[in-house]
Amino acid sequence: MTRKKPSYYNHDGFLMPMGFPIEGFISALQYKAQPSDIFLVTYPKCGTTWTQYILWLMQHQGEPLSPLEKLETYIPHLEEVGKETIEKLPQPRVIKTHFPYQLTPYNPQAKYIYVARNPFDCVVSFYHHTRGFIKHYDFAEGTFNDFFECFIRGEVDFGDYFDHLLSWYKHKDDENVLFFTYEGMKSNIKMTIIEIANFLEGNYLNCIENNEILNKIILNSSLKNMKKDQQRWSSQRPDNMPSFIRKGEVGDWKNYFSSEQQQRLTDKFMMRTAGTHLKHLWSF
Ligand code: A3P
Repeated sequence: MTRKKPSYYNHDGFLMPMGFPIEGFISALQYKAQPSDIFLVTYPKCGTTWTQYILWLMQHQGEPLSPLEKLETYIPHLEEVGKETIEKLPQPRVIKTHFPYQLTPYNPQAKYIYVARNPFDCVVSFYHHTRGFIKHYDFAEGTFNDFFECFIRGEVDFGDYFDHLLSWYKHKDDENVLFFTYEGMKSNIKMTIIEIANFLEGNYLNCIENNEILNKIILNSSLKNMKKDQQRWSSQRPDNMPSFIRKGEVGDWKNYFSSEQQQRLTDKFMMRTAGTHLKHLWSF
């Protein structure tokens, strides 16, 4: 059976969405990380926007971003905009990237926040993302089964899920890396915000020393509130596609996977993460 595949740009073997200019990718690799930089690093669909907005709220005493503004203006995506746009931002900068460790600009004094999500919910979320951004992927007619095959082979944008996760997991105990999970955020967002503040220090500590600010951050970054005014996070998606902030649940994968797919991804997970403690992060 011929399966439909999303379209990508292939930059030296690294797949990128078609809407991302090649110049952005090349110049992103040349960005010189500054000591005051904060990088928010994720594999796609693992909680980037949620964490990105929490960081923005922490910088703004919990006050929400205007519905007329875009979060990406303040916390841009490095490989989408390229280094010139990032260099124009005032310092200290917060920079979003989906790069694996070896491609991410490094400075020993910069800080790196990595958010991981279980691969089962990640692939479901990634499927909806890929089908909805028609100009990036030309995959509007693709099925979950089509996308699952690409994902399990690592033939999707930003590379193989396991390569990405393992590249950062090896550094999870580095002094300038904070590693946490989407599932951890779902079960205790207050604790995640406290961890972020303690990691970033400086003005970020105000957010946890002042209960009113902390509560505003929690409220404004809630799923319910982030579902409003979605153009703040992403360009408009066609009406027949799920919105960018979609379900925001743990375990939605059970509505999509066949038992054969569950077994195959479990086997792949066990094989790729053997010798690490990653299997203790999630239960499938
Ligand atoms: P689902 O597609 O499973 O709903 P990213 O920002 O990395 O693209 O991740 C997108 C995923 O995070 C989507 O998952 C989205 O719904 C979820 N998400 C975004 N904001 C959220 C929030 N405030 N609370 C919980 N999940 C959220």
